[in-house]
Amino acid sequence: MKPSICLLILLGVFSLSPFVAGSQPVKPIQLEKPGEGKGKTLMQALQERKSSREFSERPLSLPHLSELLWAANGINRADGKRTAPSAVNKQMVELYVVLPEGVYRYDAAASQLAPVVTGDFRRLAGVQEFVYTAPVNLVFVADFGKWKEGRIPPREDLIGMAAIETGCQVQNVYLYCASEGLATVIRASVNKEELANALGLTADQYIVAAQTVGYPK
Ligand SMILES: Cc1cc2nc3c(=O)[nH]c(=O)nc-3n(C[C@H](O)[C@H](O)[C@H](O)COP(=O)(O)O)c2cc1C
Repeated sequence: MKPSICLLILLGVFSLSPFVAGSQPVKPIQLEKPGEGKGKTLMQALQERKSSREFSERPLSLPHLSELLWAANGINRADGKRTAPSAVNKQMVELYVVLPEGVYRYDAAASQLAPVVTGDFRRLAGVQEFVYTAPVNLVFVADFGKWKEGRIPPREDLIGMAAIETGCQVQNVYLYCASEGLATVIRASVNKEELANALGLTADQYIVAAQTVGYPK
């Protein structure tokens, strides 16, 4: 077979793969400042908090995406502390953001989404159909490597703390979504191993859960 035909076949095979890296690497996304003094009251948001599993495919606007991430775990004080609490302020649970064009890591200090990998990885972000078409899937990743100094808790304690910290961020997202009329659901169902490999996570990094967000269908 001619080398040019082999190349065409290879290109064809790879273009069918949903996980293949796109030709254009994704660029950092600069996030906007969260709006102040807007939204429903806390009591209204609590009244309306719920899980939804029907999402429009429409991308989230930049203001909504920016506020969503800030609500989840943004910096809310001059000393760099966050909207969600963390054990010994280690801030070990990081947010990975799966968008249709690539996966990013939320850099709260830079108010930026830093590219991790290019391509559509939504098939690895869950097992329910809506995950594959929703515009945003958040993945909560604990980095146990942040516990390097002093007394290092046993792994089962670290997993427990990671789950609590994730739960705090998840509820922040739920309340923001209730306030803005967005749809969301927390999910324990994630293809943890495959997704960790695709994102190049280290042995210290542990996927806790995921959360799908979008406009209601
Ligand atoms: C730890 C945890 C894991 C969950 N995993 C999933 C999931 O994988 N898929 C899903 O559709 N919902 C998942 N849920 C959402 C629950 O089904 C939902 O919260 C529950 O039915 C109550 O509904 P509500 O959130 O509207 O009050 C999960 C909730 C929690 C707290």
